[in-house]
Amino acid sequence: DKITLSVIKADVGGYVGHCAMHGELILEASRHLDDARSQGVLVDYHVTACGDDLELIMTHSHGVDNRDVHHLAWEVFEACTEVAKKLKLYGAGQDLLSHAFSGNVRGMGPGVAEMEFVERESEPIVIFMADKTSAGAWNLPLYKIFADPFNTAGLVIAPTLHAGFRYEVHDVKGHQKILFSTPEELYDLLVFIGATGRYLVKAVYTKDGEIAAVSSTERLALIAGKYVGKDDPVCVVRCQGKFPAVGEVVEPFSMPHIVEGWMRGSHYGPLMPVPLSQARPTRFDGPPRVICLGFQLANGHLVGPCDIFDDPSFNEARRLCNVIADHLRRHGPFEPHRLPMDEMEYTTLPQVMAKLQDRWQPLEN
Ligand code: 13P
Ligand code: 13P
Ligand code: MG
Ligand code: MG
Ligand code: MG
Repeated sequence: DKITLSVIKADVGGYVGHCAMHGELILEASRHLDDARSQGVLVDYHVTACGDDLELIMTHSHGVDNRDVHHLAWEVFEACTEVAKKLKLYGAGQDLLSHAFSGNVRGMGPGVAEMEFVERESEPIVIFMADKTSAGAWNLPLYKIFADPFNTAGLVIAPTLHAGFRYEVHDVKGHQKILFSTPEELYDLLVFIGATGRYLVKAVYTKDGEIAAVSSTERLALIAGKYVGKDDPVCVVRCQGKFPAVGEVVEPFSMPHIVEGWMRGSHYGPLMPVPLSQARPTRFDGPPRVICLGFQLANGHLVGPCDIFDDPSFNEARRLCNVIADHLRRHGPFEPHRLPMDEMEYTTLPQVMAKLQDRWQPLEN
């Protein structure tokens, strides 16, 4: 029997500003998902938040892209938007870009990462959830986890990992996808996924076709055609056995890589791995955060969560984040703290520029 793990998320109102999640929204979402579990729509669920993003973690037997599950998530976000409006939270309904549900939340604003698989004898899963960053934030860690032997010892010394993996890469501007096989096509893979604004690792598979990881690749600005906050993506990774160990999966986050999405979605900043209690980005609305919740699945039930980054071994990563953050912040409105112009097109800057349109004079020669 196959089980489906669906992580569907949206920002439906921030407390305070874009900082954190109000407890009433968690309660409202939990009430709805509890009903759905009683009615048999879900096997299990866990509701959490990273910054101002509401994260619905759900297990069920209906497969990916299921209408009932997506509709449930949409209804939860709508109900929580009503609570957010009542409390006048900031940006109530921010990520709900459409008003009529049409069978699937893809393309409507929420981020989605889903995978269907046969649950193993033991099924350890980790779920990464980020705030103040964009969907491309997973490219570098997913590269390290499944393709870098300096990160993942198992690629070298474990017979179950030695064959390598396959990466499914989406070109979110060209609306096309491609598969790369590693280690054979490492350099081809990197040509594309190094460009994190356009080419996104959607999924990783073992060479015999088992799903290993899946990420949300929704880019809000491309859907909305204008600035509506950052994507704040999620990523699910299966661990152990024929997949990397939990420790190999979280190891990339000991190096705080620089991602886009800080302050007004318009700045680069280091991604800080934090426990749940610290997933409340406040300094300059950041720096960008990532949390990691681990679960053991037991017949679809979510045994957990284990708050993976609640570990002093990530203290140095957090400290380095603050050092990098200080240095980048001193650049103020200058690149490379501010995003380059082609990415700023998806912010509110074009409106400011339009005002000065008539003042430009041609150069003499
Ligand atoms: P334990 O002996 O703690 O199970 O460790 C197994 C291991 O090798 C983890 O990397
Ligand atoms: P969110 O996408 O988390 O709402 O971030 C908006 C923002 O840019 C805050 O500065
Ligand atoms: Mg917000
Ligand atoms: Mg957010
Ligand atoms: Mg957002």
